[in-house]
Amino acid sequence: MIRTLRGMKDILEDENQKYLYFIKTCTQIVNRYGFEFIGTPILEDTALFKRSVGESSDIVSKEMYQFIDKGDNDVCLRPEGTAGVVRSFVENKLDRVGGVHKFYYHGPMFRYERPQKGRFRQFHQFGVESFGVDSYLEDVLIIKMIKDILDTFSIKYTLLINSLGCDLCMPPFKKRLVAFLDTLDALCEDCQKRKRTNPIRVFDCKNNNCQELLKPSPRLNENFCQKCESDFSNILKLLDALGISYQVDPNLVRGLDYYSKTAFEFVSSDLGAQNAVAGGGRYDKLVEYLGGRKTSAIGFAIGIERILQMIEVPKKGRVGYYFGALCDEAIDVVFKEADKKRATDKVTLSYDVKSLKAHLKAADKQDARYCAIIGEDELLNKEIWIKDLSEKTEVKERFE
Ligand code: HAM
Repeated sequence: MIRTLRGMKDILEDENQKYLYFIKTCTQIVNRYGFEFIGTPILEDTALFKRSVGESSDIVSKEMYQFIDKGDNDVCLRPEGTAGVVRSFVENKLDRVGGVHKFYYHGPMFRYERPQKGRFRQFHQFGVESFGVDSYLEDVLIIKMIKDILDTFSIKYTLLINSLGCDLCMPPFKKRLVAFLDTLDALCEDCQKRKRTNPIRVFDCKNNNCQELLKPSPRLNENFCQKCESDFSNILKLLDALGISYQVDPNLVRGLDYYSKTAFEFVSSDLGAQNAVAGGGRYDKLVEYLGGRKTSAIGFAIGIERILQMIEVPKKGRVGYYFGALCDEAIDVVFKEADKKRATDKVTLSYDVKSLKAHLKAADKQDARYCAIIGEDELLNKEIWIKDLSEKTEVKERFE
């Protein structure tokens, strides 16, 4: 038997309803905030992710589904959605148009990670990207939007937030940090590499020894420029005013290299080890880095599989019609009448001739509101016998 690949799964039965319900609800919420749909290809030039997500990240250095296609192009299944949206933004010259552009997207992402509960190799994200707003207010708006989504599904969370500084305060800080790291000789191999590629990622190291060694290191939040300092404190003040609780986590650097200034994660204690439900932040340099005009940008993505573990779809109750035939002669008529009804209602029909009892049972199992039956008598009288399974009433409807 051919099976799904390790770390990948089908979305069916209970999950498919939850998946669609989640997308529909998120779409309604982000539409209220002025975000419009964008679709970008799943397959992109590998260089896009190397340049944006960054070569120092685990995603690019270890987890890419990368291959050479038949035309000798180095391509990659997208590990996340932001890079493709920024590529599209620049390619379609929206950076030149100026103004504000707000997009949302959803779909599969691919990371060759070690699968475990809540961690897959193909997983799905719902994300948004906002371009052209420089104000810290947009950061709060984005966080409020995630809160709206999580609250709608009654998901409990903790918001972790940090600032990663900007072009002004980050380069001198990185120099100081590297000078400090150079005094340590027992850093793990990954951190040795990070020192050269993106030193702040050492704060994200899972190695206890590294974390111990880093205790006396210079800290990002003690080295902000005035603007980063005031933007970050304004964000926290507004979150307080909105009643959104948070924890400032000075070690939160995120696993992707494109962030500057605000970075955040929503974690949930209901999830186990893979506890990040959503993550995002500001990436004011990325548009320029991918060849566009300097444009402020911020976004987030929610991990759909992780969310689906925690949500229930409200019960819809009985809807639509179930059609069935009691004799062979009625089958074509049932097919035709079911088709007519489908113009206005959800309709399922049985292709098998069955007893009335069996049809009623099947209609009940499918949560149909009405069970519509045609047998010999109904054929003679040109009538459909219809039982309302909620009200327990019966009627006859004429057909031509
Ligand atoms: P990320 O933190 O890498 O950010 O992913 C966002 C969310 O995707 C995570 O919080 C998690 O819920 C889910 N996720 C990540 N990896 C897996 C996996 N292997 N299995 C299941 N779920 C997973 C980004 O991807 C950024 N593009 C977010 C962003 C948008 N930043 C700015 N704009």
